[in-house]
Amino acid sequence: MSFDLLVKNATLPDGRKGIDIACSGGRIVAVEAGVEGEAGEVIDAAGKLVSPPFVDSHFHMDATLSLGLPRMNRSGTLLEGIALWGELKDILTVEAVVERALRYCDLAVSQGLLAIRSHVDVCDDRLTGVQGLLEVREKVKDYIDLQLVAFPQDGLYRSPNAEKNLLKALDMGVDVVGGIPHFERTMDDGAKSVARLCEIAAERDLMVDLHCDESDDPLSRHIETLAYETQRLGLQGRVAGSHLTSMHSMDNYYVSKLLPLIAEAEVHAIANPLINITLQGRHDTYPKRRGQTRVPEMRSYGINVSFGHDCVMDPWYSMGSGDMLEVASMGLHVGQMTSRDAIRYCFDCVTTHPAKAMGLEGYGVDKGCKADFVLLQAQDTIEAIRLKATRLKVVKSGRVIASTPPRQASLSLQGRPASVDPSDYAPRED
Ligand code: FE2
Repeated sequence: MSFDLLVKNATLPDGRKGIDIACSGGRIVAVEAGVEGEAGEVIDAAGKLVSPPFVDSHFHMDATLSLGLPRMNRSGTLLEGIALWGELKDILTVEAVVERALRYCDLAVSQGLLAIRSHVDVCDDRLTGVQGLLEVREKVKDYIDLQLVAFPQDGLYRSPNAEKNLLKALDMGVDVVGGIPHFERTMDDGAKSVARLCEIAAERDLMVDLHCDESDDPLSRHIETLAYETQRLGLQGRVAGSHLTSMHSMDNYYVSKLLPLIAEAEVHAIANPLINITLQGRHDTYPKRRGQTRVPEMRSYGINVSFGHDCVMDPWYSMGSGDMLEVASMGLHVGQMTSRDAIRYCFDCVTTHPAKAMGLEGYGVDKGCKADFVLLQAQDTIEAIRLKATRLKVVKSGRVIASTPPRQASLSLQGRPASVDPSDYAPRED
């Protein structure tokens, strides 16, 4: 047999060790021990983890890397971030959006992040972000699956031309219907916006992903309407609720009714740990609420939960580096998901779960899947999160598209080890 690429001696996310992965024609053709054959390129994984690529199911690529334009967010709140973005929107150009987005895509590739769902603001009559990101989607299509969500940032009903612009963006080729019900003028308008947006998606056979209840208000319950509309319109499995932070503050009895409804409607949940641990609880003194949605509880109901990055160096969040392992780490800390099993689940929240929410075809390190994967400097998924492990090789369509040297510190301490490999400290067994 002859292959384009053969990876020898890999560990897989499910724990299988000593596995070889053979790729031909952009697909994985074998995943088993002892694959024999020639290959154009051979990589010795040396027992390290090979994972399917990282997937970010919630991002804002039209705003990324704009930190400081036209000024910094002084209060650090969501609302000042939205106001600041409004100031920036007026001076945006398509060229600037494209340039920043492409720079971010380069960073993403280096981090093994090969699929991104980005919201794009449609509350700008020029649709600058839409034009820019449609161009970027085309430019990066050979290495990043970029899915775009038509996002009426200023409210479907609160912003005068939002619905018209949203429909135009969908006509131009934007993939998914977005919304922000908690930002409408009233709860009633918020609920109506959820119904209208789901109807638009049903009419056009599209997916839905709403910023939903990104608030500390326990009475912000648009997720209930979203689950209801999903069922009414037969959109099961094609709808996501992003953020869902109000659930953190909701009454426990109400949540015990709500979670089975979300599960029944097969609505995907997307938490954004980095941004929400900084934005939520801003109006609290002490104790301060964390604000992250109820991830372990949703897990127990079988709801598909992802962790998104949301923002990198923009009006809402000045940090971030396209590292989905940092996102997973924050999610597990904030959700107190520290059992071995729960940490592994957090790895799934930045790989297989968002791939499912986005409906990615051919995702996974299995025979027949696309030959897209990442070799990490880690022995398993737990260590990958703990170390924010180096992406040694990033493979797309059976070709290495990014490489990073392993982390290895040299020491000069008398009578002590000469070097430190951070991935040498994993427990031998659970
Ligand atoms: Fe967002």
